[in-house]
Formats: sequence, C-alpha cells, structure tokens
Amino acid sequence: MLTRQAAMRLRALRQLPSVALRCGTASSSDRLFSTSAAAVTAVQQQQQHPKKNLHPNSWFMMMGAGLLGLSAGTVAMMEEAAPSVETSQDDPQSEIQATSAAIQDEDHVKVGELDNHPPPRPELPTIPLDEVAEHCDEDSMWFTFRGAVYDLTFFINGHPGGTTRLLMAAGQDLEPYWEIYRQHFRGHVVDWMEKYRIGNLSPEDTKRSKDSVSFGDMYDTDPERHPDLLSCTQRPFNGEPRIELLTNDYITPNELFYVRNHLAVPEIDPEEYVLIVKGKGIKKHKFTLEDLKTKFPKHEVVTTLQCAGNRREDLHVDDHKVFIAPHWVVGAISCAKWGGPKMRDVLEYCGLDVDGMALGKVKNDKIKHVQFEGYDMDETGLCYGGSIPVEKAVDGLGDAIFAYEMNGETLPRDHGYPVRAIAPGHAGARQCKWLHKVIVSDKESQKSWQQKSYRTFAPDVDFENDLSHWPPPRLDQAMIVQTMPIQSLVCNPPQNSTIGGQGATSVTVKGVAWSGGGKQVVRVDVSIDGGKTWTASELYKPIEQGYNRHWAWTQFSKTLELPEEIQEKLRNGEKVELDIVSKAMNSDCNVQPERMEPYWNARGVGINHWYHVNTTLDPKMDKGASPIKNKTKEEEFGNTPTGGKFQQHWDMHGWTADPEHKDNARSAPTKA
Ligand code: MTE
Repeated sequence: MLTRQAAMRLRALRQLPSVALRCGTASSSDRLFSTSAAAVTAVQQQQQHPKKNLHPNSWFMMMGAGLLGLSAGTVAMMEEAAPSVETSQDDPQSEIQATSAAIQDEDHVKVGELDNHPPPRPELPTIPLDEVAEHCDEDSMWFTFRGAVYDLTFFINGHPGGTTRLLMAAGQDLEPYWEIYRQHFRGHVVDWMEKYRIGNLSPEDTKRSKDSVSFGDMYDTDPERHPDLLSCTQRPFNGEPRIELLTNDYITPNELFYVRNHLAVPEIDPEEYVLIVKGKGIKKHKFTLEDLKTKFPKHEVVTTLQCAGNRREDLHVDDHKVFIAPHWVVGAISCAKWGGPKMRDVLEYCGLDVDGMALGKVKNDKIKHVQFEGYDMDETGLCYGGSIPVEKAVDGLGDAIFAYEMNGETLPRDHGYPVRAIAPGHAGARQCKWLHKVIVSDKESQKSWQQKSYRTFAPDVDFENDLSHWPPPRLDQAMIVQTMPIQSLVCNPPQNSTIGGQGATSVTVKGVAWSGGGKQVVRVDVSIDGGKTWTASELYKPIEQGYNRHWAWTQFSKTLELPEEIQEKLRNGEKVELDIVSKAMNSDCNVQPERMEPYWNARGVGINHWYHVNTTLDPKMDKGASPIKNKTKEEEFGNTPTGGKFQQHWDMHGWTADPEHKDNARSAPTKA
C-alpha cells in the first residue's frame, strides 16, 4: 500500500513527459512505447555505459520506470531495436547552408540570431550520431542541434536549468527539448554554443537525430490563465499582468497576479496533502491541510510579491545578453492578502523555542535557515526549493506564514495550492509554492534556485565567460538575493499610448512603488520631461502597516500641470511627446538609480532603474478620451521595457523569427 506521499510522488512522476521510441522492424515500425523521458534516458544511459556511475537522480528515474510498469526487459528491447532511418532525397545541411547564406547577405545579422540555424562549418568533421550518443554523462556531454554537434561537457554545472536536465539530454538532439523550453530559441543561445561546436552530422543523421527523441509535455495539466497575463514563457508558464491594470485596484485580483513557475504545476489532492516539518532542534511533524487550518490561528498579511528578476528584459542588450529566463518585461510584481498559520506558530508546535530565538535569548549555531521544498518537480525528479534566514521565520512581527488563502479565496493552483510559504518583504523566489517540506537547518537551501539563480554579480561578470563554468570566480561577491531594492513603475498613462490633449492643461500620472525588507515608500517623485524636473506625488496605501513592516506596495498618483510651451503647442494643433518617469525613496533614504548600466548583472536580478513611459498628447483627441495604445510590431507583447522599446523587435527575439516556429513560438507547441 502506498503512503499518501508516495502516491503523490507517483502521480507527479506520471505527469512526467513521455518519450516515444520508434522501433525499426518493418512490422513494428509504428509501435510506440511511452514512458517518462527521464526514466528512459537514465535506463538508456545505464545500458550504454553499465560501468559508469549514473548521477543520483537516475536511480530515482529508473525506479520511476519500474513504478510505471516499464520493465528492464522492455527498456532493453526498446534499446536494442534499431531506430528506423527514414531516408530522404532532401539534404538538410545544404538547405541550412542556403538559408544561412541568404540571411547573411540580406540582413547582415548573425545567423543564429535570426533563424537559429547553426552556420555551415564544412571544415569540421562529420560525426556519426551513434558516436554522439556515447557522450551522455558527466565525463563527456555532446549534443546535436540542426546538424551541428557540440561538446558542452564544461557546462555540466553552468546550465541555468540544472545539471540533471542537461544530463538527461546529453548524447541526444536538443530540438525536442527546446520545443518545450522555447526560451532557447532566442538566437543568442545558438550563437554562444557555436564556440563549442566540434562537428557536423551527415544529412541523414541530422534528420534521424531530431526524430529519435520526442520529449513529452509535462505542462499539459497546467491551469488556464487569464488573457491579460502576458506570457514571457509558456513552459514553464511565466506571465505578467498588463502593467496598466496594476493601478485599477490596490489588491491585485488573483487571476491577474503575476505567475512565476520554474516547473509544471503539480496536481495535489487536498485530502492527500502533507506538510513535513523537520530539522535541527525540532521534532519531525506531518501536517495535513486540515491540521494547518484547525491547529493554528489564521493570520492575514497583505504583501507585495516581486520576482527577483523583474524587468530582466531591460538588461538584455546587444553587447551584454542575459542567458536566464524568463525575460520579464516589467510586470512581475503584484499585491495580495494572504491567510494561513504563522510560521513561528508551526515551528513552536514542533518544539522550536521561537520566542527565545526572536528575543536573542537562545542562540543555536545549528539553526540558521529555514529551507522550503515544493511538490513541483523537474523531469529528473528534482523539486523546487529555497530558504530564508531563521530570524525571519521566528520574528513575532515578521508576518511569515504558510498561506492557504489568497485574497480570501482558496489559494489558486498557479500560486501554490494548497499551501505556500509567504515571507513578506523577501524576493518572490523564497516564497515556496506547493509547499511539501520545511527543514530547519544550519545551511541555506542547496537548491540551484538558492545557490545559483538569484545572485547579484558585478557588471563585469558575464554568462558566456564566467557563469557557464560553475562555480564562477568571485562567487563570494555575488549576494544571494533575499530582500529587494526600492522600485517604482508608472502604470498610467500606459506605455506608448496616445492620450487626449484637446484643451489639456494637465496630465495625471499613476503607478506603484514598493521596497523590500518592509521598508516604507516615503516619497515618489514624478516627471513628464524625462527626469529634468520632478514633483512629489500623492501616495495611496489604504491599509496600515508598522515600522519596517511595509510589506505591501504604495500606489501613487499626481496631476501635473503642463508647462506653458506644451499647452501652446497643443493649442496650435501640434502633438506633444511626454517622457513620464518616476523615482521612489524608501525609509532608509535609498533611491532608484537613473540608469541600469552600472548595475547590469548577468542573472538579471534586483533591477530598479527609472522606468520611462512614452506618451503622446494629441490635440485632436478629447481630453477625457481613453488612452489609445500605439500598437506596433515592437510592442506585440503588451508590456514594454523602459523607454517603450525592446532592444530588438519582440518579433525578432527568436520566438517567431525562427522559421520552424512561424506559429508564435512563445505559445504552447502545436499538438499533432
Ligand atoms: N515555489 C515553487 N515550488 N516553484 C516555483 O517555481 N517560483 C518562485 C516562488 N515560489 C516557485 C516557487 C518564484 S521565482 C517566484 S517570483 C514566486 O514563487 C512567484 O509566486 P507567484 O507565481 O505566486 O507570483
């Protein structure tokens, strides 16, 4: 009989993607065997290299294959059966060469940048696909992509998506994986890989390599999302609300609250849910959802969440590219009221002297961090995790809770149903959703999302040279993000909009401002001339929050009188461009920097330079008319970076420009 937890793991495992292997015999050429991609890969690796040690998760995957009823014999049969080789008259390599040459001639752009096809490199050797397949473990990792062969062994710990995922694809073609994780199709990824290219596939092998793996889609059971949640990536889903909607309500409606998922949304039966609390200095406990609702008082807290990487797209510039997804544009920030037991109450129940610790009377070097682990898992069985300092969890005024409610409703699936951690004032990344384990420890979480993803590197540390070889130099200078800097964003008028200027003598500017660590937003200055002159705005915060507990954002608004020369132009029937910008100050006197360049960082975190909004005043439009968003090709995304322009057309980011993805590659893969 399976325990509830094992049953849940099994269910999660069953959500893993399926791999379809085509057997090569004439009679069985159409027979498809399906199982977890990870499991198949692990078993394949073990059989190809029986003497080599598999990475630890492979055993979990193999166990998964067993649980799914895939016997070693079946796997062996799949392994032995020769994959069918579909011969073709076409020569993909020469097609690639022709396309590449045409693009280079016409547009003078780097090849990978536009169409993701590796450039022709006839001087490199042709490597048989079977040889590539041999290089599938940490000692040697080769990959193929559209006819090119790469040796990325050095990258074993540098891949932002994790070592085990990279190992899963080692020895295989990347395209089926990238079909799901389409953020790779931004041209700079293929460009960068070119440095590590070691050869070419023959035209036959190019075709075979892509067809030999079909990577299933574990995101199939994700929930439906609101159309005003603009997706930066679909798989995993990362969506930001249209920024002009953020000032409609003080509390962001659940369906518009930004969603940041690293993995697929797990399906969790509330009857089977358990939260495990364990670690140094406490007795291990398991709580059901009912326990959390009935054993402890419900505590409510209004807090803003912001992703540590909000506005990452602003940092993706020509000479400095960002190799981590998603590239949030501006809206990975929202505000909600959360409800659930206080973390300190639950930890006290488990035996931790939370009062003694909070008052500094008890000092225990073994208890420094509270780690969280989620029920969501990647294809290799690794779950999401992170940690916060224990001081935050035990603080009587810290308002850290295990939330089961969001804005008075059951926590939605995308936001962590049934229970998530809320650590007000901290970066979104530390507020673990679908909470499975709470571990009190002397160590920070060792998960890559704590140790690697959200660190503040110096501007001269880049991905290509430094972070792709992990651990990079000067890691000690790169703080692990917990709390976040002061931020403010103009939401209305909307970016790149035209507003009524007929008889206008003033313009009203509205936005949101927030500071991490519970610091109060004490002032937000606004400007309509790009920051030459400033005026303090009126602040709006309809709830009361105490000293260093300003977890929730402050909205701001100001009606600014138009200078006489602007009014004159409008009277003369001329359109006027405004460059609207805000800058906030927090209760520590910290302010937003004007420019991002001095704070550029390779992970794209803690981004808070002035957000410029371009607006046109049109004297032909009535002053009271609703703003018109000037939609151009560049602004297809809806939200736009500071200044209203993407560095490259959004359309050219590889999402749609890739010829294989004419169907808007940001969206879900087209189903066969
Ligand atoms: N928790 C789990 N289990 N899995 C995740 O992918 N994403 C984190 C955090 N908690 C994540 C998670 C990140 S990076 C952020 S910014 C917030 O959740 C986003 O919370 P939201 O989706 O409710 O806005």
